[in-house]
Amino acid sequence: MLHCKPDRLLGADDVHIHVLRPEPVKPIDADSLDAAERQRAQSFKFDKDRDLYIAAHLFLRQVLSRYAVVPEQDWRFSTNAYGKPAIANPGYDWLQFNLSHTQGRVACAVARNRAVGVDVEQHKSLNDLSALCRHTFSPPEAEHVLSTPLPSEQEQRFFSYWTLKEAYIKARGMGLSLPLHQFSFVQDTDRCWQLHYAPGFQDDGESWQFNTRRLGESHFLAYCVQAGGCDLSVQLIGANASGDFCGSENNFLSMRSEP
Ligand SMILES: CC(C)(COP(=O)(O)OP(=O)(O)OC[C@H]1O[C@@H](n2cnc3c(N)ncnc32)[C@H](O)[C@@H]1OP(=O)(O)O)[C@@H](O)C(=O)NCCC(=O)NCCS
Repeated sequence: MLHCKPDRLLGADDVHIHVLRPEPVKPIDADSLDAAERQRAQSFKFDKDRDLYIAAHLFLRQVLSRYAVVPEQDWRFSTNAYGKPAIANPGYDWLQFNLSHTQGRVACAVARNRAVGVDVEQHKSLNDLSALCRHTFSPPEAEHVLSTPLPSEQEQRFFSYWTLKEAYIKARGMGLSLPLHQFSFVQDTDRCWQLHYAPGFQDDGESWQFNTRRLGESHFLAYCVQAGGCDLSVQLIGANASGDFCGSENNFLSMRSEP
């Protein structure tokens, strides 16, 4: 699909999160990718991983071309020291994005002049949740996951923290150089997420807006966006073969808030 002109506007306080259910990709479809992407696609050992990578990168290009007069195949990317990609086409650095992919879903978040991170994960049954939590989460997060005796509730809490922490480190763009034990997501009595830093954590002084969403029964999504003190409008936009379907944060077809 080639867009000749933008069909979506992105206001200063808008965040759009496009979500795709990828379908099998024919090899010819990879033609819109650049040489680095095609090379990376060829490096995957398993077809399903290669197909997901190709679908995600085609989707990213399609999404970006909805906001700017740049054909899908003409997007160029640079990466920071930690691997976070950004648009390299001159004049388009205002269009910030982040990509996440897992079997069954691709998510691409875009914002105007705001750092953004998104993470989508497929639900999996987890072995030794206790060790995984203590290895990955801050002590209050690990304690909260393990404080319920219900395995399904433990897993739901686990994926909420996991995706939130990933979305945050992806928004910051510093990958796992940010110590995962030194920042904590905490739900207040209104079930709103708050972010707490341990003393000495490399906080950048920025304010962030973040939240989690279930995508049907099998996927978890979280986003994190540089808020700069503004109350941002976050829209989740689903994509399938017949086009877009979208909704506000609190009203989105197959997506539902954490209970
Ligand atoms: C690479 C990383 C940024 C995300 O990895 P991930 O969750 O496995 O993968 P996702 O699908 O969500 O995101 C991958 C995309 O993020 C983008 N990305 C890569 N490096 C990034 C960075 N430093 N910051 C932000 N985005 C980045 C790229 O677009 C990448 O897509 P590509 O690999 O197709 O080029 C990094 O956080 C990582 O290695 N995580 C490992 C998992 C882990 O231990 N997480 C702890 C969770 S609490």
